[in-house]
Amino acid sequence: MSLSTFLTAALLGLQVNALPGRNHQAVVTRDCPDYTTYSAQKHGPYSDGPLKLPFQRPVESCRTFSSEKVEKVIDDITSRLVDKDLAQIFRNAYPNTLDTTIRWHVDDSNMTAMHRNTKRENADWSGLQTFIVTGDINAEWLRDSTNQLTNYQKLASQDKDLYNLILGAIRTQSEFVIGSPYCNAFQAPSVSGIKPENNTQVDTVHPPYSKSFVYECKYELDSLAHFLKLGREFHENTGSTEHLTERWFKALQTVLDSIDAQSKPTFNSKSQYVKNVYTFQRQTTIAAPALSEAPSVPAMMPPFYLTLSPPNAMMSVELQKTATVLKAAGGHDDLADELQERGNKLAEAVRKHGIVNHPVYGDVYAFEVDGYGGRILMDDANVPSLLSLPYLGFLDETDQVYQNTRKMITSKDGNPYFLEGSDFHGIGGPHIGLTNAWPMSLLIQAQTSENATEIKECIDLVRDSSLLGLIHESINVNNVTAYTRPWFSWANSVFAQTILKVAAEKPEILFGDDAEPYTVQ
Ligand SMILES: *[C@@H]1O[C@H](CO)[C@@H](O)[C@H](O)[C@H]1NC(C)=O
Ligand SMILES: *[C@@H]1O[C@H](CO)[C@@H](O)[C@H](O)[C@H]1NC(C)=O
Ligand SMILES: *[C@@H]1O[C@H](CO)[C@@H](O)[C@H](O)[C@H]1NC(C)=O
Ligand SMILES: *[C@@H]1O[C@H](CO)[C@@H](O)[C@H](O)[C@H]1NC(C)=O
Repeated sequence: MSLSTFLTAALLGLQVNALPGRNHQAVVTRDCPDYTTYSAQKHGPYSDGPLKLPFQRPVESCRTFSSEKVEKVIDDITSRLVDKDLAQIFRNAYPNTLDTTIRWHVDDSNMTAMHRNTKRENADWSGLQTFIVTGDINAEWLRDSTNQLTNYQKLASQDKDLYNLILGAIRTQSEFVIGSPYCNAFQAPSVSGIKPENNTQVDTVHPPYSKSFVYECKYELDSLAHFLKLGREFHENTGSTEHLTERWFKALQTVLDSIDAQSKPTFNSKSQYVKNVYTFQRQTTIAAPALSEAPSVPAMMPPFYLTLSPPNAMMSVELQKTATVLKAAGGHDDLADELQERGNKLAEAVRKHGIVNHPVYGDVYAFEVDGYGGRILMDDANVPSLLSLPYLGFLDETDQVYQNTRKMITSKDGNPYFLEGSDFHGIGGPHIGLTNAWPMSLLIQAQTSENATEIKECIDLVRDSSLLGLIHESINVNNVTAYTRPWFSWANSVFAQTILKVAAEKPEILFGDDAEPYTVQ
């Protein structure tokens, strides 16, 4: 494709369909509907199950990426699944990231040459690049995009196009991290010609950032951990170290510098208050991260910065695992040792400060602690969460403190955000409020359980609340047709991941008695 075709298409707001391949061609399709609208309506053919779930994949010419390997996994799984409604959700959800969210992908050496001439933003957009939107918002979250790709990592070793797609995503994330390490969501790179998305939130953030580069700038430690995770999963699944470029190492150094800056105490050695280098204020009616809803209180970090256990736990794991990747690559032993030591220290700190005693549940992990004895006991559906600690690789699900924590956060008296109603239950969070629970929490509950009854109950509850054939962000616990976000690609990815995990480990739950396990190869 020529850059000018792309620019015109982007300016007109038309869907650009990039077919995979080394010299990929772009097909501009004028008839492709906006997927936010498309996904909110039902399309046939419907499933044979009692729920008659719709088929929600875009027509082939409107899909943003395609892979025969992915189609084969869809056929393998849906032909074996006994429950035809679950099969329909898998059919829609597993390819959802490829079908709908690859907003920009460069896999062409001629484009590379052009990018070298159009360096902007102190970023390097040369070579493979992949920009992946979260779904209904035209921006890329570091956290979401890593999780959106996770199910395709296994296929990347045999499918060069998927390999390049993921490698491009690592390169694009590297530029985002180098450019604005305190930010969580980003605009399409300027060279793509895609117009920046208007974020209507009114935020005052220091250090300042460019709105043409960044969509949102909430510092979330796990955004940086997800950058490490994307590269780590790529290496684990392909054996490749091709992502370890000069820019990737620069991004890694940026991650370490940001962690150091955010690990400084609130008071210096002379007991003087030191302002954090990063500050965030939003005009809002909800005081977050505080728990109560209060009118007209600007959300602001309290001076004693709360430390959330789950993102720290996740970062400790990713530092340790990235150390292993660097060791395997060779030639970076000192850096690998440094990461390993940082990871170990952080894990120790999470256990030392994060474990607190609860009068009913015993020793549990707190969601937040402040280093002064202050603690918040709750869980939020968003991963990383306390529920997801084994999923993150921080501990084993048989861990006693985790089991205590799990009992606490999946009960009404232990977690203010465990929500139950006539139609649905699960963990929600301050983000959406006290009426809605998140399907993602049930999927993580299933992935962190060995109990077949519990796993099946969680999956069935998600099925019964996914009446548009896709996974929503949240569901009203008293009205299963009231949901947030028709198009939330990460949630679809977690659903597919759950089905694939159960298919490999407990196939009888999905495929019937005596079924053989299915593993993606
Ligand atoms: C780049 O484009 C030119 C003109 O279309 C073509 O002749 C050349 O072969 C291309 N180079 C590569 C490496 O694809
Ligand atoms: C972005 O949104 C703000 C707030 O709604 C509005 O004032 C502004 O005009 C918008 N800018 C663009 C470029 O759409
Ligand atoms: C398994 O899960 C079910 C449903 O949540 C529960 O009733 C049962 O007690 C669990 N069994 C064990 C051994 O924990
Ligand atoms: C349930 O939610 C849907 C969608 O928001 C709404 O149209 C319907 O009226 C609600 N039903 C009840 C009983 O509140």
